Amino acid sequence: MSLNKSPENNEYRWKVSAFIEAVRKIPEEPYAVIDNFILPETVSGLREEIEHLRNQNELIPAGISKNGEKITEIRNDSIAWITRDSTLPYAREWFGITEEMRAILREELFLSLHETELMLAWYAPGQFYKKHLDTFRGSEKTRRLVTTVLYLNDTYTHENEGCLRVFPEKSGYPEIVDLEPMPGRLVLFLSEHLWHEVLPTRADRYSSAAWFVSHANPAFTLG
Ligand code: OGA
Ligand code: MN
Repeated sequence: MSLNKSPENNEYRWKVSAFIEAVRKIPEEPYAVIDNFILPETVSGLREEIEHLRNQNELIPAGISKNGEKITEIRNDSIAWITRDSTLPYAREWFGITEEMRAILREELFLSLHETELMLAWYAPGQFYKKHLDTFRGSEKTRRLVTTVLYLNDTYTHENEGCLRVFPEKSGYPEIVDLEPMPGRLVLFLSEHLWHEVLPTRADRYSSAAWFVSHANPAFTLG
């Protein structure tokens, strides 16, 4: 499949140039933030699709599985997976954009990223996801190498809380940064490097995480 990633063609759907710039910096910077990453109508369309899935009881409780039991002390949001043939129009559009993003990540970072795992998530008031890494180096056959999280809230104010807390290490010093889940904001980081946490939210909180995955066990690592 040939992906058209010419900025002139796609810039109106999503911020291609800003993404390329962020990706080029990501081996040195612990994370990148791009605001208004996609069209506001795609943000609200995706949020409405999550609400629709929730009303249809099609969201899955996302506790960590241990011996067939869901452990909800670590995370307790609800999720749905999106595939390229989703029947939801905005989810399908968003999957298409992540395919274009994957092509850029491959090209810029020289990574063999074979596929994208794409998820929609809803955190009800009080829900959270404790400090974690998205993947553990060498522990799986497939490796999540790059993570992006897109925020789909309608509005966001400080009182809503539910920030994405990241723990970057700069020059060997750990730091804490709280990123507000502003509507349309995209956060990008290397899945194996950045510890992060979803602080308890006080309002409904909608997001979409994408993991750009390698099937091989590449002989090199980034960073
Ligand atoms: C995750 C995650 C962050 C967020 O699903 O692994 O870290 O802000 N999500 O929703
Ligand atoms: Mn995560």
